[in-house]
Amino acid sequence: MTAYEFIDHSYDVVVVGSGGSGLRATLGMAEQGLRTACITKVFPTRSHTVAAQGGIAAALANMGPDHWHWHMYDTVKGSDWLGDVDAMEYLAREAPAAVYELEHYGVPFSRTEEGRIYQRPFGGHTTEFGEGPPVQRTAAAADRTGHAILHTLYGQSLKHNAEFFIEYFAIDLIMSDDGVCTGLLAWKLDDGTIHRFSARMVVLATGGYGRAYFSATSAHTCTGDGGGMVARQGLPLQDMEFVQFHPTGIYGAGVLITEGARGEGGFLTNSEGERFMERYAPTYKDLASRDVVSRCMTLEIRQGRGVGRNADHIFLHLDHLPPEALAERLPGISESARIFAGVDVTRDPIPVLPTVHYNMGGIPTNYWGEVLDPSEDDHDRVLPGLMAIGEAGCASVHGANRLGSNSLIDLVVFGRAAAERAGTVIDRKSPPRSPDSRSVDAAMDNFDRLRHADGSVPTAALRHEMQTTMQEDAAVFRTEETLAFGCDRMAEVASKLDDIKVTDRSMIWNSDLVETLELSNLMANALATIVSAEARKESRGAHAHEDFPERDDVNWRKHTLARLDGNSVSLSYRDVHVAPLTGEGDGGIALDKIAPKARVY
Ligand code: FUM
Repeated sequence: MTAYEFIDHSYDVVVVGSGGSGLRATLGMAEQGLRTACITKVFPTRSHTVAAQGGIAAALANMGPDHWHWHMYDTVKGSDWLGDVDAMEYLAREAPAAVYELEHYGVPFSRTEEGRIYQRPFGGHTTEFGEGPPVQRTAAAADRTGHAILHTLYGQSLKHNAEFFIEYFAIDLIMSDDGVCTGLLAWKLDDGTIHRFSARMVVLATGGYGRAYFSATSAHTCTGDGGGMVARQGLPLQDMEFVQFHPTGIYGAGVLITEGARGEGGFLTNSEGERFMERYAPTYKDLASRDVVSRCMTLEIRQGRGVGRNADHIFLHLDHLPPEALAERLPGISESARIFAGVDVTRDPIPVLPTVHYNMGGIPTNYWGEVLDPSEDDHDRVLPGLMAIGEAGCASVHGANRLGSNSLIDLVVFGRAAAERAGTVIDRKSPPRSPDSRSVDAAMDNFDRLRHADGSVPTAALRHEMQTTMQEDAAVFRTEETLAFGCDRMAEVASKLDDIKVTDRSMIWNSDLVETLELSNLMANALATIVSAEARKESRGAHAHEDFPERDDVNWRKHTLARLDGNSVSLSYRDVHVAPLTGEGDGGIALDKIAPKARVY
């Protein structure tokens, strides 16, 4: 029995996280009259979606011919045939409606001369099923698209009377004895009170776990809190080995320079001034898929053709583009380059390096966002009362590699889908379930243990150890040796959580404790990542295994499931959905178009 006192709340829906997917779900739930609370550890418009730059993919065909079939094909190919085809169809088909909806909610998209939404090219987005030229599919609000979307969705959610619990840290899920999620516990950071939320549906929209790595474009708040909560319930995390490196993080700072920079005509060069992507990807060059570009950059550096004093990075050129175009289309990254690299983009190239950017893996769900707890006989078994969306979830719409600008569209398409589904599965008349005391006690015991932890390892030191281990041993290229070594190192690093030292015991604005709770969430995600990576004996998408350089569809076209028990990780596998939702005769894509083949750009 815990000594903590609770303030109780009851809602139809509790959404955890207020980035693009959390706010789109919150809005969709509230629009239907569901009593909806959104809990967030930061002010909503400070969520990491605010940093999304280049845009949101949808086959609007505003700049030339396009079709959702082409978008679906590109997504399937981009995923290296690991994504679930039903989810990928849903994304591509629903994308145009979701973007027009955003426009009508008030997102201030950039415009063409004719007043249509402006769209730019992005890596891996093509025409004619990869046979035609690059397509301009990425709708943009200059290079501040996430900022525009987030502010609009927050305003709309307030308009529909969603309730916000701001600067509340989600501690853990509350589960019933019969395996239903019935709510969650949260800590109000500014007054130290503990809140017990009962809900008919909990939606995890907590974002990725980029901060498990040393150098990431992600905000410091991207600590995989949803994945940590799910892992503590013994539920699986899916495809965690697939970690995306964005080709153009600013060297040293890790700050994102949007792929839209290459979409607007930017290109990469090595120390010989060569546009080396022409050699690796003769058709799409600098606009090949981003896993491909990141690997090519790494190879150039390894082969001694990096730039700079230590020959350890690459140049991104925008200096040939008209200054007015840079000011209109890329004002944000022009500023970032000045502040973080001391570069005037109209005159000099930007020093860049592949930097951790996105987690394809996450909490397994179907394309409605319902969390899956697969059993041996039922790989698609739904766990009642729990959804996961956005980067926290794994639908799996990105498979082994996500295309640029497919993230913002994922957030809104699946945030909207989750709301639609919740509207049908929630029984508004059923009495709310009272919180299971065993589940509550277990969560609060863990919280209390960390609050009073009096070991010898400071949180910041352990976090740094974890981040450098992941950076070195689960990198762009991996080998048997680095992965095995990384698993051992991570097991040792994770064991030090038992010897953690928290110096502040208070309940009010205790950032030491917040960072420790975040670290324990990151650790669960990091362990699942490295163990899943060590087991996958092939190369696919972002998982580039030097000892197994080929994709192996016979043995490895399957999703990894990683379950944690303390610090030990056990793996099982789940089938990939290979069938589209719509038959060819009903307007769906032809099956032969999406059959696996070599992935060349
Ligand atoms: O390059 C970018 O603007 C990032 C976009 C994305 O990750 O989707």
